[in-house]
Amino acid sequence: MLSLLLLALPLLARAQDGSLSGPTSSASAANYHCDATKCKLPTCACASTSAPGGIAPADTPQFIVFTADDAVQSYTINAVNSFLAQRKNPNGCPPKMTYYTSLSYTNYTLVTDWYVAGNEIADHTMTHAELPDAAEINGNLIALNALAGIPLSAIQGFRAPFLNYTTQTLQNVAAAGFLYDSSATSSIPATDPGTDAYWPYTLDYGLANDCLSVPDICSGKPVLPGLWEIPMYAIFDEKGAAGPHLMDPWLDGNTSAVLTWMKNAFTAHYNGQRQPFGIYTHPIHLATGYPGVADPTAMVAMVNEFLDWAQVQPNVWIVSNMQLMDWVRNPVPLSQLGTADYLKCSTPQVSQNICNGMPTNEAGLLSHCAFSDFPFFTCYGCPETPPTTADPNPPQATVSGQPLRSRLPANCSTPFWDPIKGQCLCTDSSCAFTDNSRPIGPNGANLTGGGTGGAHTTPTPSYVPFDNGSPLPYLVPDAGVWAALFVGLAGAVFAGAIIL
Ligand SMILES: *[C@@H]1O[C@H](CO)[C@@H](O)[C@H](O)[C@H]1NC(C)=O
Ligand SMILES: *[C@@H]1O[C@H](CO)[C@@H](O)[C@H](O)[C@H]1NC(C)=O
Ligand SMILES: *[C@@H]1O[C@H](CO)[C@@H](O)[C@H](O)[C@H]1NC(C)=O
Ligand SMILES: *[C@@H]1O[C@H](CO)[C@@H](O)[C@H](O)[C@H]1NC(C)=O
Ligand SMILES: *[C@@H]1O[C@H](CO)[C@@H](O)[C@H](O)[C@H]1NC(C)=O
Ligand SMILES: [Zn+2]
Repeated sequence: MLSLLLLALPLLARAQDGSLSGPTSSASAANYHCDATKCKLPTCACASTSAPGGIAPADTPQFIVFTADDAVQSYTINAVNSFLAQRKNPNGCPPKMTYYTSLSYTNYTLVTDWYVAGNEIADHTMTHAELPDAAEINGNLIALNALAGIPLSAIQGFRAPFLNYTTQTLQNVAAAGFLYDSSATSSIPATDPGTDAYWPYTLDYGLANDCLSVPDICSGKPVLPGLWEIPMYAIFDEKGAAGPHLMDPWLDGNTSAVLTWMKNAFTAHYNGQRQPFGIYTHPIHLATGYPGVADPTAMVAMVNEFLDWAQVQPNVWIVSNMQLMDWVRNPVPLSQLGTADYLKCSTPQVSQNICNGMPTNEAGLLSHCAFSDFPFFTCYGCPETPPTTADPNPPQATVSGQPLRSRLPANCSTPFWDPIKGQCLCTDSSCAFTDNSRPIGPNGANLTGGGTGGAHTTPTPSYVPFDNGSPLPYLVPDAGVWAALFVGLAGAVFAGAIIL
């Protein structure tokens, strides 16, 4: 289980050499021309700093997209929950986020749980491969469907590991039927007249971001009609445009400085064109109790202070990238958000003890797949060997005295599927979900951020960990890995601007 540690190594290694120190695009490099009379919602959108559908800034929700990347483990889910579990959106529903999942060291049952709880599961390749081929991208879909019960139709987003992509990567993503990619960077402040802080747009007329950092894109390339790009919006330090920070900015400076950078960038979006604001995490950096990771308490408190501050401002919604896409493709003014289905909090009503991604139902029903590389749990039966790009869905291992488990069919939603009996508990779409949303109200009315006023006075309520507080097992790694990890961490903390 030493390999549990290796989860963190790819991104830490990258942090030492993958940082950028200035804008990754410019208007002249973009050379972007989009015919807005031909490019129309919902399937086409020109890159624009203005909200889609001609909605005025005052009528536009300020979305905060919260994303996490890499393997899904109890540690990383706990870290994400430390920001989101206690929060509510203006309609009273818990915020959802997007998890760009890579499969090495992923605990599949936690992916099922996270999806059934309403979050978006997206593709980050099987092995966190640099410049991934189709097998890396598509194998992730197959394995997530087979071993985590995620419907293929629900996996709509892709993010390139290390944010390193080429035209070929995007072509692979388009060919695999994804709705969107979110690997490109917006690296010029939203207040700059030449900003590249575009709302999500389709690649009908090529990319308009990363024109200086990725070869052979922009000036109309690549043409991938209907594939959306959701730019990742940088924040900026004291150096302004020369000091962009993107992922895990809390590793780039002290907490009071980074809080200021985040507030300044948020305000620039909020008081401007309301482009989404991103919180882009590698949650392992914010995990408590993970070997080799420094105590994240101060960083977690800082990010919560930021979210508390942001959420007491009116019309701020924390969403997944798919929820953002739902709005962008069919934009409605603030007054109509309360009726938007994709923002409602629907909870599946299933109380039977079946293995369905609802932790209260599935006790004792999980299969433990005891692979030496990384043991994981699943509802859908252990494979004979761990998934690989060559074989993302190996045959199911037989367990004596137990029937094989049935994988999710295309016509049953995950929480209603009983993989042991192989039956769908819901045969009628009307029985599937209960809508728990409250009437839309002024933001802040029932939030954790401190009431309806502007000042942040109440502390964030204490957070209940995903595992109800019981300590999770891990083995102590050998000395060599400890040494490597500490070197890597030092690199991460002292590396330059953008950590990929
Ligand atoms: C994997 O999932 C199981 C079942 O939810 C859980 O008991 C275990 O702690 C998890 N381990 C990790 C490292 O995520
Ligand atoms: C992406 O990966 C390739 C191949 O490893 C490397 O040459 C290139 O520098 C990377 N690009 C970025 C922007 O990191
Ligand atoms: C935090 O960093 C800023 C520069 O980004 C610096 O001016 C400030 O003194 C630092 N504060 C502390 C407490 O180290
Ligand atoms: C789902 O499809 C299978 C055959 O592929 C069929 O037997 C079953 O009745 C269908 N279930 C529902 C709920 O439609
Ligand atoms: C929200 O807060 C208001 C006043 O602070 C209170 O009257 C109301 O009951 C709360 N609603 C919920 C669902 O907590
Ligand atoms: Zn990654």
